[in-house]
Formats: sequence, C-alpha cells, structure tokens
Amino acid sequence: MRVSIIVAIAENGVIGRGGGLPWRLSEDLKRFKELTMGKPIVMGRKTFQSIGKPLPGRPNIVITRDKSFHPEGAHVAHGFEEALETAAELGTGGNEDEIMIIGGAEIYRLALAVAERMYLTKVHDTPKGDAYFPDYDRARWREVSRDSRSGRPAYDFVVLERVRGAINENQEMHGEAAP
Ligand SMILES: NC(=O)c1ccc[n+]([C@@H]2O[C@H](COP(=O)([O-])OP(=O)(O)OC[C@H]3O[C@@H](n4cnc5c(N)ncnc54)[C@H](OP(=O)(O)O)[C@@H]3O)[C@@H](O)[C@H]2O)c1
Repeated sequence: MRVSIIVAIAENGVIGRGGGLPWRLSEDLKRFKELTMGKPIVMGRKTFQSIGKPLPGRPNIVITRDKSFHPEGAHVAHGFEEALETAAELGTGGNEDEIMIIGGAEIYRLALAVAERMYLTKVHDTPKGDAYFPDYDRARWREVSRDSRSGRPAYDFVVLERVRGAINENQEMHGEAAP
C-alpha cells in the first residue's frame, strides 16, 4: 500500500499551535475528508486528542508509547512500523490502496522516510505556532498538481510525489525549518 502524507503548512513551516490548527479553512477540511474517506488514517496521540474523537468512515490508528491508552473507536499502535502494519491489515482492498498519515509533527518526521506522496495545503500566512513540519529534501519530490485558492489567507492545494528511486534514502530532517 502506498503511504501518503496529508498536511497543511504555513509559509514559516508552522502546522499547529496550542494543540490545534492556527487557521480555519473549511475548503481544506472538505478536501481532507474527501482524500481520507475510507482509507486508514495514522496519527500521533496528540493529534488524536486534539481532534477529540475518531474520524468516522476511516480506520483510525493512533500511535502512542502509553500501553494503557485504549481509546474507543480507534486502533492503537506502539510504534510507526506497527501502525503501518495495522493500517495495511485494515486497508480498503481497492485500487486506491493508500495509508494516510495525518500528523502531527512527530509522526510526519517518521513518515517522511517512507511516504511516496504528499498532499500539501500551502497556507500563505506566517502564523505563530509551536508545531512545525520537518524539513525535507525538495529535490527528491516533484510537484504533480497545484490548485490555487483565494481567501484570507490564500492557499494552494499541492500534490508532490517522490522522485522514483529516492525512497529510503537519507532524509534531511532538521526539525523546524520551513518547507
Ligand atoms: N496542519 C496540519 O495539517 C496538522 C495535522 C495534524 C496535526 N497538526 C498539529 O500538530 C500538533 C501536534 O503535533 P505533535 O508533533 O505535537 O504531536 P503528534 O505527532 O500528533 O503526537 C505525538 C505523540 O505521538 C506518540 N509518538 C510519537 N512517536 C512515537 C513513537 N516512535 N512510538 C510510539 N509513540 C510515538 C507519542 O504519544 P504518547 O505521548 O502518548 O506516548 C507522542 O507524544 C497539533 O498542534 C496539531 O493541531 C497539524
């Protein structure tokens, strides 16, 4: 199954503030729903708790080190590999077999080594924040589509695919640099 990242990123690399999102973009939430529906979604425990409940219509897989964490309506994994195995077991079985990595920063950092596609929402703003998308080597990703939307802030829906042969090579991940 293909592993894909889905994320909204501001120009300064910010993806979150105070456990939530720094913006409210209803079209982005709609796109997120369309792209993830029916597919296994993998997230960190903090992102799961910030959403507040399992997202319906999709197997929810939550990564935590806490062996006593058993949220209702979600599967738990105690590492990233285990999460991918669980997601593959729960996959849709259709042609569009895809595991969706939905965040947050800690989980994106792990996913960047294996993801083949990124669904980015590039938010044209520089909000204050405390969660950042990890830096990555742009030369290893090519843009396959871009759909620009006006608004306050304006944003672009961008799809990136890993350049063939680039998987599992070293990623440049320096933590808090802007993408
Ligand atoms: N803009 C976007 O598209 C987007 C998307 C998603 C999230 N966000 C934002 O990102 C922020 C949250 O990101 P975050 O980095 O703080 O948290 P996170 O990645 O959602 O969750 C971190 C937690 O995941 C667990 N974890 C991480 N690595 C693990 C490993 N190797 N093995 C087992 N468990 C592991 C740990 O849970 P335990 O502490 O329970 O052990 C850790 O505390 C929020 O502000 C959220 O709103 C933004």
